[in-house]
Amino acid sequence: MDHFTLQDGVLHAEQVALSLIADAVGTPVYVYSRATLERHAQVFKQALGALDNPLIAYALKSNPNLAVVRVLRQQGFGADVVSGGEMQRALMAGIAAEDIVFSGVGKTAREMADGVAAGIGQFNIESEEEGFELAAVAESMGKRANASLRVNPDVDAGTHEKISTGKAENKFGVPIHRAGEIFANLANKPGLNLRGVAVHIGSQLSDLAPMETAFAKLGTLIAGLRGAGHAISHADLGGGLGVPYKAGEIMPSPADYGAMVARVTKGWDVRLIFEPGRVISGNAGVLLTRVVRVKRGGNGDPFVIVDAAMNDLARPALYGAWHDFVAVAPSGERMTANVVGPICETGDTFAMGRDIDALEAGDLAIFRTAGAYGATMASSYNSRGFVPEVMVDGDRWAVVAERIEPAAILAAEKVPDWLE
Ligand code: LLP
Repeated sequence: MDHFTLQDGVLHAEQVALSLIADAVGTPVYVYSRATLERHAQVFKQALGALDNPLIAYALKSNPNLAVVRVLRQQGFGADVVSGGEMQRALMAGIAAEDIVFSGVGKTAREMADGVAAGIGQFNIESEEEGFELAAVAESMGKRANASLRVNPDVDAGTHEKISTGKAENKFGVPIHRAGEIFANLANKPGLNLRGVAVHIGSQLSDLAPMETAFAKLGTLIAGLRGAGHAISHADLGGGLGVPYKAGEIMPSPADYGAMVARVTKGWDVRLIFEPGRVISGNAGVLLTRVVRVKRGGNGDPFVIVDAAMNDLARPALYGAWHDFVAVAPSGERMTANVVGPICETGDTFAMGRDIDALEAGDLAIFRTAGAYGATMASSYNSRGFVPEVMVDGDRWAVVAERIEPAAILAAEKVPDWLE
């Protein structure tokens, strides 16, 4: 459920008309709803209600905007971060260092040292090599880094290949059949407090069965590690729960997910950690855009050319992703059209031959479910700027990230004097 609804014929974010935001800030612009973020956070917390004190570490990568992270901190969430930059944001948003989990296969020694210095709660180690390096970094600082070993369970998550992470051939985690041996090699390092295991098999999962298989394998691993004398106090089950992108699409609910987790992890006797991203932020944001013109007279359907492009919302171009596209002030008429951006490549296509609200030049429309992996994946391709972000809260709203104009990007470039 979200708070982007038609009121008196005009789409609103909570109580604010999207047309008002477009007029004030210009388009394209990302618009987030605080109430929707809070609702999703609460639903997720309730779904895990049967568990003892889980840590819900919001995956910043899905939407790292400071205001968004602040809302989730207020809901008691921690943070899952994958870079020094994300760690900085989580700390700036007020998340306690001990509630931060640092994931990712390519942490640099600098990022490790910064994380150890900040006292973050846990590093998820993705390889034996990384474990040795983290141990050395922490030891040289006279510290012990809390850590879990991420395993690759070799489970097919059944999602898009570019966002699957739990197959043996993917770069993430250590092969589960070698986890016991690698855990033993790392467990006695003075710089490490290796205390748990972690798994994350992919994103936008529409079926709980592969997750359940992966979690069950993790349970077997925990029992084996304990049998070998290791103390295991934490298990991180990652993120990955899918969200509906099409009106009417059915996805496993957080409640179904929570019930499955409670069943599979019964008796594990660990603190569970979760890293949800999309399920919290996805449907809490839209990309608001204006139709530049409608181009007719080709071989097929008309092209509705909008001022948003693949550099602003990359998902359709990257993953062939579907985002519902609706008019801000629908007339009731329909049309079949191709929805495209202004960028000079055919990949800059949001929808082909789609039945949409009838639109003309100057009309406003939104791409729904753009709160996750939207603004954060933007680029300045074609020398376009970065789209601003707005948060709505009831009848008030604020710009939470300024538009970055092409001139500001240009200002960072220099022509060396030997080219003068
Ligand atoms: N934890 C780890 C270790 C992850 O790699 C990810 C996502 C998450 C948590 C959060 O997953 P979520 O709950 O959001 O599914 N750009 C792609 C998605 C990439 C996901 C990467 N990892 C997209 O737009 O679909």
